[in-house]
Amino acid sequence: MSDAKVGVIGLGSYLPEKILSNADLEKMVDTTDQWIVERTGIRIRHIARDDQATSDLAIEASRRALADSGLSANALDLIIVATVTPDMFFPSTSCIVQEHLGAFEAACFDLNAACTGWLYALDVAWQCIRTGRYRNALVIGAEKLTAITDWDDRNTCVLFGDGAGAAILGQVVDGSEIISSCLGADGRWGKLLYLPGGGSRTPASHATVDQRLHYLKMEGKEVFKQAVTAMVQSAKSALERARMSVEEVTCVIPHQANLRIMQAVAKKMGVPFEKLYITIDHCGNLSAASIPIALDEAVKKGKLARGDTVLLVAFGGGFTWGAMVVRI
Ligand code: ACO
Repeated sequence: MSDAKVGVIGLGSYLPEKILSNADLEKMVDTTDQWIVERTGIRIRHIARDDQATSDLAIEASRRALADSGLSANALDLIIVATVTPDMFFPSTSCIVQEHLGAFEAACFDLNAACTGWLYALDVAWQCIRTGRYRNALVIGAEKLTAITDWDDRNTCVLFGDGAGAAILGQVVDGSEIISSCLGADGRWGKLLYLPGGGSRTPASHATVDQRLHYLKMEGKEVFKQAVTAMVQSAKSALERARMSVEEVTCVIPHQANLRIMQAVAKKMGVPFEKLYITIDHCGNLSAASIPIALDEAVKKGKLARGDTVLLVAFGGGFTWGAMVVRI
């Protein structure tokens, strides 16, 4: 078994063209632009068309990541899609993506760790390539959260958007490298952030739809508190495993759930807020897609250059959390 260095050899992302602004939401529920901006930091979010599913967003992001890597689709031997909004129960969204890319040499599966999903997927792909078993993995975070949003619930409907981000991982000799990872979970908190209906526990029926059980439910305040603690702890552990201090990191990319969560994380870690890369103002919360989209944007906008080191940190339903240190 080899222990190869694994790095990011391509990045891409896609946000749907359609925009939903806070002013639009003011016409839908009892809310205001001021409340949303002050409590969350969100101004607009991109939302998919009715005829776009999660796989469509994922395919577009993947095409861009493949173009960035210079690889052709048949060089991929693994595709993982991190999502809580798959096109359907099965086949997996990753199989649907594979068909459209023509990546028929790739093994495919979906992974659900809610907002931490892309970090879980990145860690899994890292281990798969590091052992020498796989060569090139496409790791996607893709969500159509507007499909599970209750548009009558002002507590949640102002928070979410749609989009996808993707990275190609491969064996590298030098340059980019995944350096460390620290993932965690605590299932005791599951019902603070969940989607109760439509699964094998409560299969879809007229009653589940009448009770709105097919929409995401969240106890925002409690999630907020747990998110800050878990993100700070996992970020510290990932840095320790990398034998690095936060000062040595060029940029921190947190999961974008709420601007105040990110401000609290920066404060507790003693990191100047300017070191964080922020997309929540124009994306909202994109669950598993939030970090890969922000990472791609940070590189494209020159906030991160090749050779820089980034700390990625996330928290989400499950509860799940995690952090990774990556040289870009
Ligand atoms: N507009 C106006 N008022 C609102 C709105 C709104 N859109 N939403 C809630 N309110 C009201 C509430 O009804 C409440 O009114 P009351 O005091 O009269 O009862 C008041 O505002 C305060 O509500 P809180 O829920 O206490 O507001 P809070 O400051 O906690 O902000 C928020 C809510 C934004 C949801 C915040 O708690 C949060 O971001 N939580 C964490 C979310 C998160 O990290 N999720 C994890 C990832 S998501 C995933 O895994 C899919």
